[in-house]
Amino acid sequence: MSVTADDLKNGSVFLSEDERSVGIIDQTQLPNRQVYLNLTEAEEMYDAIKKLAVRGAPAIGIFAGYAMYVLALHEDAESADAFRASMQKKADYLNSSRPTAVNLSWALKRQMKVIEDHADKSVPELISLLKKEAVAIHTEDIEMCTRIAEYGLTLVKEGDGILTHCNAGPLATSKYGTSIGPVLLGKERGIDLKVFADETRPLLQGARLTSYELERAGVDVTLICDNMASLVMKNGWVQACFVGCDRVAANGDFANKIGTSGVAILAKHYGIPFYTLGPTSTIDMNCPTGEDIQIELRDPEEIKNMWYKEPMALGETKCYNPSFDVTDHSLLTAIVTDRGIVYPPFDVNLKKLFAEDQDK
Ligand code: MRU
Repeated sequence: MSVTADDLKNGSVFLSEDERSVGIIDQTQLPNRQVYLNLTEAEEMYDAIKKLAVRGAPAIGIFAGYAMYVLALHEDAESADAFRASMQKKADYLNSSRPTAVNLSWALKRQMKVIEDHADKSVPELISLLKKEAVAIHTEDIEMCTRIAEYGLTLVKEGDGILTHCNAGPLATSKYGTSIGPVLLGKERGIDLKVFADETRPLLQGARLTSYELERAGVDVTLICDNMASLVMKNGWVQACFVGCDRVAANGDFANKIGTSGVAILAKHYGIPFYTLGPTSTIDMNCPTGEDIQIELRDPEEIKNMWYKEPMALGETKCYNPSFDVTDHSLLTAIVTDRGIVYPPFDVNLKKLFAEDQDK
């Protein structure tokens, strides 16, 4: 498959027309308003990630790739050395915005490697290499999502019900998305699947983003509250669970949106296959197990206030608001990647997936 210039412009993250800012669809405004933002400053880029204006592990990685290029344009460093030191500071700053999704640090490291590997080049040459790498990260994501969608589609059949949690569609990635990819690809091919979208408390990515994307694509989608998943499964309406991932550890444990591990436990109870779908850029072989994944804690106001006309709890009420949880690999049927479907034992088979890279 070849990626077109339109594909690069159509996602939720793109390089602006004048190529001097990173463009995003502000995901906090959906589904009611389609607002585009053009970002040039490190602080506004940090805030966009932190506030979830740009969100979803692969989309954050694509954003970070372009961000490094745009920030490089504003550098006034005179030597390549000073340029590298200043870009490292900016990469560290952006990296501190959210800790869980590995794609952020992965993309920032990739851009820093471009600078380090070309120590002999001038600053303007380095800047053009950073642009090339940012486009490569974006292009590769489109290709990876397409392959994930193809592999995922082999796991289901016409009419199946798929339960998903959070949003791992095109807004969170590039084209197709990950967990939603098989559904969108199936739709293109006349294979209709039904989706049950968990609303995904507290930030409602399932309601605001997944059901929006699927409605617009003409997919049969039913929105449910998170606590309805058990009943929907018991009713026999779900033949598979497809969820995204923010970081997959070397043993197959993976972090995804808070509530994912509960869905996995329910799926096990009802004998429903449970898959996570993600690009190889989300697999962190340097992270041995889920215990080693840092889980982001967010503002309690997101639980008490954010979506209501008035507070839904007393100001003094304590809240615990972790953004992600870790699903144990024992609950996972398979990991659907761009390089194929990985089955247990995950520690052995994930190693094999990357063995080819080590041989290079
Ligand atoms: O806090 P969010 O909305 O960034 O959480 C996103 C998820 O948990 C997604 O499922 C994950 O990033 C995969 S997106 C392809």
